Amino acid sequence: MTAGRPHTAPGYSDKIRLIAGTAHPELARRISEEMDLPLSDAHVGRFPDGEIDIKINVDVRGSDCFVIQPTCPPVNENWIELLLLIDCLRRASAGRITAVMPYYGYARKDRKDEGRVPISAKVVANTLTATGVDRVLTLDMHAAQIQGFFEVPVDHLYAKPVLLKAIQDLEIENPVVVTPDVGGIKMARSYAKVLGADLAIVDKRRVSGSEITVEHVIGAVADRNVIIVDDMISTGGSISEAARIVRKHGAKQIMIAVSHGVFCGPAVERIDACPADRIFVTDTIPLRNAPARVEVVSVASLLGMSIRNLHESKSISSLFDETPD
Ligand code: R5P
Repeated sequence: MTAGRPHTAPGYSDKIRLIAGTAHPELARRISEEMDLPLSDAHVGRFPDGEIDIKINVDVRGSDCFVIQPTCPPVNENWIELLLLIDCLRRASAGRITAVMPYYGYARKDRKDEGRVPISAKVVANTLTATGVDRVLTLDMHAAQIQGFFEVPVDHLYAKPVLLKAIQDLEIENPVVVTPDVGGIKMARSYAKVLGADLAIVDKRRVSGSEITVEHVIGAVADRNVIIVDDMISTGGSISEAARIVRKHGAKQIMIAVSHGVFCGPAVERIDACPADRIFVTDTIPLRNAPARVEVVSVASLLGMSIRNLHESKSISSLFDETPD
């Protein structure tokens, strides 16, 4: 598969267009309000047989177009819809097309960790590039190195500033930041650094896509207030087991901060039963299936500022706090 066009797209005009797919209209509306910029009129529907029907109802020739579409469940529907929106804009001579993917589906399949499996995150990247995307704006990808799967620029934001604000407002004493698995150490360390907190690690083993086992905690959590951070809640197994094991080891208050709330399968029952005091999740994914106790913090302002800066060719590095070592 080859890239649809060079990533140095021809000069685009100062017209900026926000186009929403159907994956997350609420977030698109919030971004539009934050930017004080209306969403462009577009029809994104379905033909009677379920195929996707798209028509952009405004002139986009030469425009700097931002397509807001997290590839959250239904992942395949939202992914194809994003590709068709990009194709539609390219054929309408848009000046530049940026895929704004607050959640990047298939990111967990980012390497061949056993025989005869695909690298699905790479396939997503291939299709976006081949269809003609000029750049990608995303947030807390499961693995930051997925950026390298693209031959076009990828801007990778972190939800940490908005989640940290919610945590800092709690004025937690004697905190320890906990990661539910070793893969999350870097993220947890970056929270711990800002909060002046210690770090602890849950020793998680994955049994299947929805089942995990947890036996040990590395680090001290007894009589401490715990903040568990993770990139996503999917079936809720990792977070709920992490909360259970830190409580078993004597943790006092337990707070949870997570970037993406997928909430599939048994997630609601697991989260409802887990011994957490507060649970914060961002709105990168529609939270229609989220447990009622989840508190939502919005990334709309972060994304809006990033879109504005990209359009004005300003740096966005001040907006994303690179995870420090
Ligand atoms: C794992 O590497 C991720 O960071 C999450 O911990 C995991 O994907 C969450 O999945 P679940 O909620 O199904 O345990």
